[in-house]
Amino acid sequence: MIADPSAGQAARAAACALWIGVFRDGASLDAAAEQSPAFDRLRGPDRGFAYACAASAIRAHGAIAHALSQWLARPLPDTAWQAQACLHIGAAQLALLSIAPHAAVSATVNVAAQIAPKFKSLVNAVLRKIAANPSAILAAPIEAWAPAWLLARWRAHYGAAATEAMLRAALTGAQPPIDLSVRNVGDSAHWAERLGAQILDGGSLRLPANPGLIVDLPGYQDGAWWVQDAAAALPAKLLRFDQGAEVADLCAAPGGKTLQLLARGAKVTALDSSPDRLKLLRQNLARCGGEAEIIAGDLSAWAPERRFDAVLLDAPCTATGTLRRNPEVIWRRTPNDIARMAALQRQFLRQAGARLKPGGSLVYAVCSLEPEEGEAVALSVDSAMGLSPDPILREEVPGLAAAITPDGALRTTPALWADQGGLDGFYIRRWRRL
Ligand SMILES: C[S@@+](CC[C@H](N)C(=O)[O-])C[C@H]1O[C@@H](n2cnc3c(N)ncnc32)[C@H](O)[C@@H]1O
Repeated sequence: MIADPSAGQAARAAACALWIGVFRDGASLDAAAEQSPAFDRLRGPDRGFAYACAASAIRAHGAIAHALSQWLARPLPDTAWQAQACLHIGAAQLALLSIAPHAAVSATVNVAAQIAPKFKSLVNAVLRKIAANPSAILAAPIEAWAPAWLLARWRAHYGAAATEAMLRAALTGAQPPIDLSVRNVGDSAHWAERLGAQILDGGSLRLPANPGLIVDLPGYQDGAWWVQDAAAALPAKLLRFDQGAEVADLCAAPGGKTLQLLARGAKVTALDSSPDRLKLLRQNLARCGGEAEIIAGDLSAWAPERRFDAVLLDAPCTATGTLRRNPEVIWRRTPNDIARMAALQRQFLRQAGARLKPGGSLVYAVCSLEPEEGEAVALSVDSAMGLSPDPILREEVPGLAAAITPDGALRTTPALWADQGGLDGFYIRRWRRL
């Protein structure tokens, strides 16, 4: 149970603002949090409570919408964003955060009185119905938890049972745990003990639930480790190169994989087109004491003469594989996004392959569950590209042998390691330049 903070109304109003930022304005939850003055004004537990309300309402968005559709005599107008926000944030408190019904209903109705006065009585009536039967939300059929078009694609590719397992693991349980990559692998046991973390197969550390502010944890300021999902740590581990090798990290920001490559002794050239994300990369390098050549530029237009010993392409994608941490992605994407990203990824993969020296290693990765962005992009590699498949071996991915595909790629999904808190969905494939 999350403690109900004293200034609960301001926190709930901020949670509504974040919800509107995501669903009306199309921001990610973190971007909405950065841009919201109401959220910015909150401090301490109120801030955490507002974020938890919004995050849980977003994770269970489909299930809450399904339940509301049954409790509302007729749908709210499409423009009634404030009223919708109050209903969703109220429902999340009652059904997911186990907030005392009286506090959840009265404080949320007070918010409705301010931001959606026309709908105050309706919000009150519906939240009371939810309070009488909060378990109805989590009991929503699995079909309610994701948009119908996405569910249909996943069922076609992964099968109905695997799709249900992915959605349950990603959305219906607790918030996913936070994973760390340790700079000096030899120090992993030390940091696991200091942080009370579990060492996962493959070496990432998994923090216990509610670890507190990341920046306050021991080792953060010294750059002894950085936050990185255990699946996101795999592509850089799978790239083959020797100490001192020249490695291009394409689409590198905010730099989790750059840090891994540096920790393995590479001389890294890190390219990304986003100035804001490159700023984070620079901060991460400064904190962790690493140096890389940084190129701000569009990969489509990058054609240097030089060749690299190894190239990592962590391509931009729809990021549907990160739905356990960023549940809004599944509600913001469209089929067009998948087609657009896949076309860009095919182009980027050609460019990445062309930057390799003979014998060099290439790893392509996307945090998407969509086969068009993973499997189909890998299949677009043709003989003219001079790349030979370099299958991923079981011993390279401890605990993930089942995720190796027959053609030697790695396909992780949120259903993997579900009993330990899950894993992001990635597609990873490796080649060698002939
Ligand atoms: C999946 S993220 C990279 C994450 C990063 N590799 C890490 O581990 O921290 C994809 C990146 O591609 C970058 N990107 C998108 N379009 C690009 C382009 N045309 N040229 C270069 N980078 C691009 C984005 O700015 C984003 O940082």
